[in-house]
Amino acid sequence: MKLLHTPGHTQESSCYLLLDKAVQKAVFTGDTLFLGEVGRPDLAVKSGEITKEDLAGWMYDSLHNKIMKLDHKVTVYPGHGAGSPCGKKIAEGASDHLSN
Ligand SMILES: [Fe+2]
Repeated sequence: MKLLHTPGHTQESSCYLLLDKAVQKAVFTGDTLFLGEVGRPDLAVKSGEITKEDLAGWMYDSLHNKIMKLDHKVTVYPGHGAGSPCGKKIAEGASDHLSN
């Protein structure tokens, strides 16, 4: 397992990348990436410290610099399914591939 710090939904948000030797097999994305949606950046605002704009910027960087650089065949296992308030339009299902 490899820890990827992926702030955005919260400042502490992280993903866990499952490797088989050097081959990327799966990523457990917590509340960073759901199926068809990302974690809302407006829930973990800290008045006077962290704005939703800060979180949205970190989310963009996490997605573009860490998640989207993974092997697109990797299986994504998000922390929530459809109906969670942590994402607005989370798709049905428990897992998918990053390329979808
Ligand atoms: Fe959440």
